[in-house]
Amino acid sequence: MKAIVTGSSRGLGAAIVARLLARKIEVLGLARQQPPTLPPATAARYTHATLDLADTGALEDWLAGSAMARFVAGAERALLINNAGTLQPVGPLGGQDAAAIARAIRLNVSAPLALADAFVAATAQVRDRRIVHISSGAARSAYAGWSVYGASKAALDHHARGVHEDAVPGLRICALAPGVVDTDMQAEVRGSDAAHFPMRARFEALKRDGMLTSPAACAAQLVDYLLSADFARTPVADLRALSGH
Ligand SMILES: NC(=O)c1ccc[n+]([C@@H]2O[C@H](COP(=O)([O-])OP(=O)(O)OC[C@H]3O[C@@H](n4cnc5c(N)ncnc54)[C@H](OP(=O)(O)O)[C@@H]3O)[C@@H](O)[C@H]2O)c1
Repeated sequence: MKAIVTGSSRGLGAAIVARLLARKIEVLGLARQQPPTLPPATAARYTHATLDLADTGALEDWLAGSAMARFVAGAERALLINNAGTLQPVGPLGGQDAAAIARAIRLNVSAPLALADAFVAATAQVRDRRIVHISSGAARSAYAGWSVYGASKAALDHHARGVHEDAVPGLRICALAPGVVDTDMQAEVRGSDAAHFPMRARFEALKRDGMLTSPAACAAQLVDYLLSADFARTPVADLRALSGH
């Protein structure tokens, strides 16, 4: 089995990589930075591609090469975990900035959609292929200050629904909200200007009260679900509602 993970250098993505490697699954990670040093027992199963996924030209060049096809060659099962994302720009209309909006959409929407398309093209011979878009509760509930972020994640949800309808042979897809996970992105949430993000105090309280899920615990549940027979029975799901899967 082989897995491609975006945003593999930190946070939830790095924890997903560690979990997959521990299960003896070969991983190709994509991020701007390398992940921290991996345990020697698993490091040989990890390959890194240094890529800015918000740079559409760089992504197109990478996809035009053969790295993905070479990586998945010979696999009986292949996984794509579209995890890389950005919260920015945070705030109401009038101060979001066109460049920041475009960057968020390139990273949070264009890159996962392009990677999903290339993954399906590269895995035509693979009998079992699975895609996870890491979505968010913000795709399904509206939060002041997060209009761009929420719209980008809602786009992933609806992409998964559409792909599900396509019924591509051997392909399953799910846009999965992971819950509130203790990563750099959560620190960024708590560091938001309260004038731009009125819910900040609620996220500060979640951290203070120990209510955040650790990246390792979230990754363990996510990978178990991803590898299970139940995966993607519905194209949109929330990990917190799947504990009984
Ligand atoms: N944390 C939460 O509570 C939470 C809740 C709901 C959904 N999510 C979603 O879960 C996913 C992971 O979030 P996280 O909390 O782990 O975030 P994080 O701590 O900010 O990590 C983000 C990851 O994405 C990569 N990334 C960012 N910009 C990139 C770029 N331009 N090109 C390539 N890779 C890039 C980063 O790697 P480099 O910096 O090395 O490029 C890093 O590995 C995101 O899609 C997020 O929206 C998180």
